[in-house]
Amino acid sequence: MRPRDTYAEPYKIKMVEPIRLISPGERKQAITEAGYNVFNLKSEDVYIDLLTDSGTSAMSEYQWAGIMSGDESYAGSKNFYHLQQVIEDITGCKFVVPTHQGRAAEHILMRVLVKPGDRIPGNMHFDTTEGHIRLSGAEPVNCLTDQGYIPGEKLPFKGNIDINKLEKELLAHGREKIPFILITATCNNNGGQPVSLENFKAVRRLADRFGVPVFLDAARFAENAYFIQQREPGYRNKTLKEIVGEMFSCADGCTMSAKKDALVNIGGFLALKSEELYQQAVEWQIPFEGFRTYGGLAGRDIEAMARGLEEVLDEQYLENRIGQVQCLGEKLIGAGIPIVQPPGGHGIYIDAGSLLGHLPHSQFPAQALVVELYLEGGIRSVELGACAFGHRDGTTGEMIYPALELVRLTIPRRVYTDRHMDFVARAAEAVADRKNSIRGLQLVYEAPVLRHFTARFARL
Ligand code: F0G
Repeated sequence: MRPRDTYAEPYKIKMVEPIRLISPGERKQAITEAGYNVFNLKSEDVYIDLLTDSGTSAMSEYQWAGIMSGDESYAGSKNFYHLQQVIEDITGCKFVVPTHQGRAAEHILMRVLVKPGDRIPGNMHFDTTEGHIRLSGAEPVNCLTDQGYIPGEKLPFKGNIDINKLEKELLAHGREKIPFILITATCNNNGGQPVSLENFKAVRRLADRFGVPVFLDAARFAENAYFIQQREPGYRNKTLKEIVGEMFSCADGCTMSAKKDALVNIGGFLALKSEELYQQAVEWQIPFEGFRTYGGLAGRDIEAMARGLEEVLDEQYLENRIGQVQCLGEKLIGAGIPIVQPPGGHGIYIDAGSLLGHLPHSQFPAQALVVELYLEGGIRSVELGACAFGHRDGTTGEMIYPALELVRLTIPRRVYTDRHMDFVARAAEAVADRKNSIRGLQLVYEAPVLRHFTARFARL
């Protein structure tokens, strides 16, 4: 990876979308009306939107040209065949089930493979995956290495599965209770941390011993491959395509949220190596998503997805992408702001629990920081702390809090320039400078499930 100041973005801008920083008074009014929850803000009141990297990418001229060649036939669209060919070329999976987004692919996979009482081990499942596992009556089991949970631990592959934990799980429950293992690469929930190829291979060897299939949550597979190329001994001279090929050689298939590394605004798929499994998947795809060649998407969206997958393994693109995230991370560290280290692929995770150490979990420190970043610079970030992951004990009703209070600054792909990132860093620094005067929040409304999307707060 070259130093950031020795190159510039490997693209130029053909079309612009105006954004506006509304006045401090307007921001105060907007966030108050939103009940101090940024999910309730109008996006027009946001200056720099770092809520998510999902579905927020800028498409290329090649993708937009593809939009114009959408074949909207109900069955047999040429765009489907293009997608299938691209996916097979990259992943080796011959059978492709398009879906409207990643969670729909998860839904179909669970319907086909999971029964009540099963257990699904992985490094650390994403929220929707965990939700689908539970909806199937099964138990998600996170086998992430212990170091993966420590924000300050600067290790190259903090998304790795602990092979001993996985082996214990397989010995205890076996093939009967474990329909598959799921590797999420990169691992979103602990900071976009990558999984090494050594780990992929070790998981595969162990899975083979027990006859258990391995699936990949491939939402950010290209970013993971870039980290392997840069950090894992022996891969510096391999192409990203070769590395991705090796990652997928360890898997029987994948679920994919195309809203991330396929560089599109909507879409997903399930890709499989087994024809038998594919036939079962199509039985669930048709009633829930649509016919097998469109699966909940327009032909034009499928074409954009195929072309995004063709583009994403470009080394200069990934260098610039990951480099931008890293550069923001370094600026925050320079300003004394504690973040999850090393920076992951798609965003910076601020350790709000430690920055706002004077606020207990019950006063939602991460959410308080989200609110301050909006007030300071019109920046929308997302809370991953007491509100998103806290839950009430089934019998006592007492709150159980997560270990970490994080704020994610998620960077959309090809959307913001380094000057936008400089602005974000300066705003974060200004907030950190007045951290001791930041007050906590209290919940005034919460839904029984997934409360962070609709919660409303008051300032203490
Ligand atoms: N898997 C991972 C690792 C994800 O990060 C996401 C979505 C999904 C699956 C589900 O995909 O949204 O297309 O249904 N992550 C988004 C985020 C929502 O903001 O991190 P989807």
